[in-house]
Amino acid sequence: WEVPSASSSSEVLAPLHEAAHLLRTTSVPVAFPTETVYGLGADATRSPAVRGIYAAKGRPSDNPLIVHVSDLTMLRGLLSPSPSPEGVDPIPAIYHPLISRFWPGPLTILLPLPSPSPLAAEVTSTLPTFGARLPASALARTLISLTGAPLAAPSANASTRPSPTAAQHVCDDLQGRIELVLDGGACAVGVESTVVDGLCSPPVVLRPGGVGVEEIRGCAGWEGVQRAYKDGSEGEEKPRAPGMKYKHYSPRARVVLFEAGGRPGREVVEGAGAVGVVRTGGWSMAGGLGCSGLEEVKAAEGQGEVDAGFVVMEGLLVDGEGKATGARLLDVDLGGDVKGVAHGLFAVLRELDRLGADVILVEGVSDGDDLAAAVMNRLRKAASEIKV
Ligand code: TXA
Ligand code: MG
Repeated sequence: WEVPSASSSSEVLAPLHEAAHLLRTTSVPVAFPTETVYGLGADATRSPAVRGIYAAKGRPSDNPLIVHVSDLTMLRGLLSPSPSPEGVDPIPAIYHPLISRFWPGPLTILLPLPSPSPLAAEVTSTLPTFGARLPASALARTLISLTGAPLAAPSANASTRPSPTAAQHVCDDLQGRIELVLDGGACAVGVESTVVDGLCSPPVVLRPGGVGVEEIRGCAGWEGVQRAYKDGSEGEEKPRAPGMKYKHYSPRARVVLFEAGGRPGREVVEGAGAVGVVRTGGWSMAGGLGCSGLEEVKAAEGQGEVDAGFVVMEGLLVDGEGKATGARLLDVDLGGDVKGVAHGLFAVLRELDRLGADVILVEGVSDGDDLAAAVMNRLRKAASEIKV
């Protein structure tokens, strides 16, 4: 790393230097942006620093952390602290095609923990492996290289809350518990990294995320990759990523998820003061059709023009008899493109909470082997009710 000479650049870099200094010298974690979600980082080689993450988040200590590196040299140094024999790469060959295709980017790979390990024991709890990721965010990589150590970092939300995709979300959850949040704007991807294990045969996906399984399947050695996560739609296999057994990604409001093609019924909204509706392309709304009264809505329904079953009148929700329930409608359209849905999903759940929604009805997206699998995985975990 070269210290820039221009004073304007050093001003821009001052918060990064301050963050790196905190990371090197204290046990208070620092929040920083990545292309997926904001992370809560600590020097992965120092136990007291890593314990600071669990304390700030209220995270169960048996849920392992991902180790973020600034480059492959840093990663190789973790795998083989003494120089390996000429020409031998300590990174297992199975990962080489994934690394050249997806790194830097939203992919986490499991690696064997060397003995003795340079990583703090708290990073991996009792596991013989550690998860590693080279983030695409230049800000994240610069922070890691200025710190001069790999950063253990979970998502920077309070445990069980939706992951943070903006600096404000981190402040909302962790204000008073941490000292510094680096603000890099909204995260480009919006859902966490895909976690893969190539140390077993066949290789498996432990968590769907920013890199689609179909893209991974296109890499040499990964043609037979299996799903090894459970989110209610898969087979009977036990969850392999320990984090998946905890309640996750949840706003305060009750989330009702409609699997792709599912339609809400009128009964769902009764008794609520405010109802959030998150559309992802399929549902049209009576309000969106410009209906102003119940008769008009009924007529539109009769002609098959209203896809969704709720009745909306001038922004209010009405019951089957056409009486206003008094519930406010908080209508959000994330658009039909799955990238846009992933990008906005966590922010929208948080925003609807802030606006006082009691119930959030979410329209699911078709669950394929792409980014949609990650979106639906997070929604299934956030939902207290799933309708098909
Ligand atoms: O995109 C991301 O991955 C974000 C950003 C900050 O990099 N980080 C993130 O970390 O999502 P976290 O702690 O919220 O989720 C880490 C996931 C958990 O499901 C955890 O169980 C799994 O990775 N994991 C980490 N190390 C593991 C290991 N050695 N074996 C199995 N699963 C592991
Ligand atoms: Mg998390």
